[in-house]
Amino acid sequence: SRAPRTVTVTGAAGNIGYALLFRIAAGGMLGPDTPVRLRLLEIPAALRAAEGTAMELADAAFPLLADVEVTDDPAVAFDGVQHAMLVGARPRTKGMERGDLLEANGGIFGPQGRAINDHAADDVRVVVVGNPANTNALIAAAHAPDVPAERFTALTRLDHNRAVAQLAARAGVAVTDVAGVTIWGNHSATQFPDLTHARVRVDGGWRPALEVVDPAWAAEEFVPRVAKRGAEIIEVRGASSAASAASAAVDHMRDWTLGTDAGADGTGTDAAQPGAGTDAGPRWTSAAVVSDGSYEVPEGLISSFPVTSDGGAAWRIVPGLAPDESLLPGTGGRLAATVAELEAERDAVRGLGLL
Ligand code: NAI
Repeated sequence: SRAPRTVTVTGAAGNIGYALLFRIAAGGMLGPDTPVRLRLLEIPAALRAAEGTAMELADAAFPLLADVEVTDDPAVAFDGVQHAMLVGARPRTKGMERGDLLEANGGIFGPQGRAINDHAADDVRVVVVGNPANTNALIAAAHAPDVPAERFTALTRLDHNRAVAQLAARAGVAVTDVAGVTIWGNHSATQFPDLTHARVRVDGGWRPALEVVDPAWAAEEFVPRVAKRGAEIIEVRGASSAASAASAAVDHMRDWTLGTDAGADGTGTDAAQPGAGTDAGPRWTSAAVVSDGSYEVPEGLISSFPVTSDGGAAWRIVPGLAPDESLLPGTGGRLAATVAELEAERDAVRGLGLL
């Protein structure tokens, strides 16, 4: 087997952490040949609970789990980290203003970014899950001047997977018969889940999704359903998405590290790799990555794009996939609106001195 990889999970005692750690330790993220060293970061009040999770990790006797360490010190947690999963965040509580929320999270993601800057391995890859994820990633990146900005990403893969699942259900096909979905912009209700380049396999052949499903459904039901799915889960489940968020975080880091084409890495977790090994045409997934100015997203914003990875250090933004207004009127405006929200969040944290 290969050399162990060091994976740090923050918010390790939380709901997502509880689902995430066991998937990683089982080899679902880095593959069946790669041992993992886990570093669990928590705040002091939750350290004991994190210790309990570490005890359960030991009790699972995972063959790939080389080591587990629990700490409340970011310098220890990020020492030599290669895969940083930043899940722990300050939730919005009743009566909290947006500025308070951004400031509280700045107090978490600024120091964590600095600790990554000072202690991470050269090949570190960071995915921010904790909300507001895009802006928290921006804050962390700003505090890590020695780490290339392309290594800081935010999770929109859950939104992507939700979109794939909704389209598959509507078209009456398997998720593996759906390709070409894109999530644009912010991981928030303003996001734009875009089907204008999506394809669906029907009777063995790939067809444009908007010829298979009703465009009115795509505009009026699909977009708000995906964008507000988090709230729907809370309403039905009585708790926020946890296992699906963990699964998406695994998908994100796996595809980034092993490559989007490698999906079939032997772990059997590539169901969200649409059209793998078929004639589906070009394939991509969605991730919030630092903009290079593509699609008129201001350079430096961390915004969701259609992306691929060849397993290298940076995701690649796929060109030529601007939302097609001729298929869904108003779609271009939706992309501009979610990007405007990201700019407003960036300006707010800049105003608070967090960038
Ligand atoms: P949770 O409240 O169950 O767990 C969060 C954990 O983070 C707690 O154990 C807390 O002690 C810890 N924490 C807080 N500050 C910390 C710090 N400075 N260092 C280390 N740990 C710290 O929340 P849950 O359900 O696990 O969700 C975590 C975050 O993920 C939330 O911000 C949530 O909004 C976000 N989320 C993002 C999704 C996405 O698709 N991007 C999807 C679902 C949730």
